[in-house]
Amino acid sequence: MKFNRRNFLRSAALLAASSLTEMEAFAANQEIDTSGDIIAEDDEKYWSNVRQLFPLTKDYIYLNNGTMGPSPYPVIDAVHKGMLHEDQEGKYGGWEETTKKVAKFVGANDDEIALTHNVTDGINICCWGLPLKKGDEVILTTHEHVGNAFPWLNRQKLDGIVIKTFTPAYTADETLNRINALITKNTRVIAAPHIPCTQGQILPVREMCKLAKDKGIFSFVDGAHGPGMLMLDLHDMGCDMYASCTHKWVLGPKGTGFLYVRKDFQDTLQTYFVGGGSDDAKWNMATTPVTMGSYAPSAHRYYGGTQASGLYRGVVAAIDFIETIGMQNIHNRIKSLGKYTQDRMLELDGKVELLTPTEERSRCAVNGFRIKGVEYTKFNETCGLNKIRIRSVAENGLNSLRVSTHIYNNKQEIDALIDLIKKA
Ligand SMILES: Cc1ncc(COP(=O)(O)O)c(C=O)c1O
Repeated sequence: MKFNRRNFLRSAALLAASSLTEMEAFAANQEIDTSGDIIAEDDEKYWSNVRQLFPLTKDYIYLNNGTMGPSPYPVIDAVHKGMLHEDQEGKYGGWEETTKKVAKFVGANDDEIALTHNVTDGINICCWGLPLKKGDEVILTTHEHVGNAFPWLNRQKLDGIVIKTFTPAYTADETLNRINALITKNTRVIAAPHIPCTQGQILPVREMCKLAKDKGIFSFVDGAHGPGMLMLDLHDMGCDMYASCTHKWVLGPKGTGFLYVRKDFQDTLQTYFVGGGSDDAKWNMATTPVTMGSYAPSAHRYYGGTQASGLYRGVVAAIDFIETIGMQNIHNRIKSLGKYTQDRMLELDGKVELLTPTEERSRCAVNGFRIKGVEYTKFNETCGLNKIRIRSVAENGLNSLRVSTHIYNNKQEIDALIDLIKKA
């Protein structure tokens, strides 16, 4: 079946019909006749029909996509069908297609993508695979998630590398100045997040990677929040390595991710965790001496063994889902919800301290904030009691809150949060 928007929404609605009310399925079908290629970010009817393609409960308001992206029905269906196919046919494999799909989606080549289970996998592969010695310096931020802090801290403990940190600034230019100021003759890696989990500001990664390249420094980007939120072109970004997942903004199955390693960087980034698929099929244990052959001539060298093919089929379906709606349409919609959140918070006349920059290039779908005089954990508890899910940010002593919105959200849900802040 040709997978255009028309067919897609119809099939998704039919698929969902067993779980949706008939009215909802009908509404989703109506959308088929009204949607054009470019969907306005404020076409509430279109977006509310999209919402119906998610089984996500309506019992509470989910404003925490930064932690986990709930999957829509077509993704769940693809996982189910993928597993059934494997188990009915006794067919092994099926995850190879996913690297191709992911590569195209993020502007990379097929042989530059390794499948992983989460961002943490990719970060560890890079952290441990880089040729670093005692005294070598690595630049990180003071806003790291444990996933991009602990591996480097561990290598500091075990190998004596030195970690230096900068605090992301309110403007991209100032952030770059801060990175520049930390560089010394011992700097070997800049390993910053694309979008820190704390306040969701978009860091100037393209300029950062260029700076690294010009100075002979390795560039690693923790891309947990990039794909599915932003239009990505990793070749254009110019990073050596980019670790991400498909279970946040891509809305894929949980426990799926990928690592990008630039083709001509693969012989620099040593692989340690190898097995079936990481080899070039030339090993032989029956020769004397035994023969190793070499690593796979691709990023497949960074992972080996049997993979959850049903889940990775779900990743393909998630990217199909995004592309059917249009990545640019999704980006525009979630950026406008992020802006709406900022505007509503700024209206509160100083009651809220908005921590995320309002600068156009530095903001998108995630906002960090504090409420004056209200303890952040207390407010998170209040949200829970009022059936709103946000995240508290205890990392690095930031003691703040985070709200993150995706295409299943709407302005009324953000208003509900604002009303709660007003009462706090
Ligand atoms: C910036 C950042 N890096 C790394 C991670 C770790 O991701 P995962 O749980 O997929 O390993 C997260 C998760 O929220 C994150 O926000």
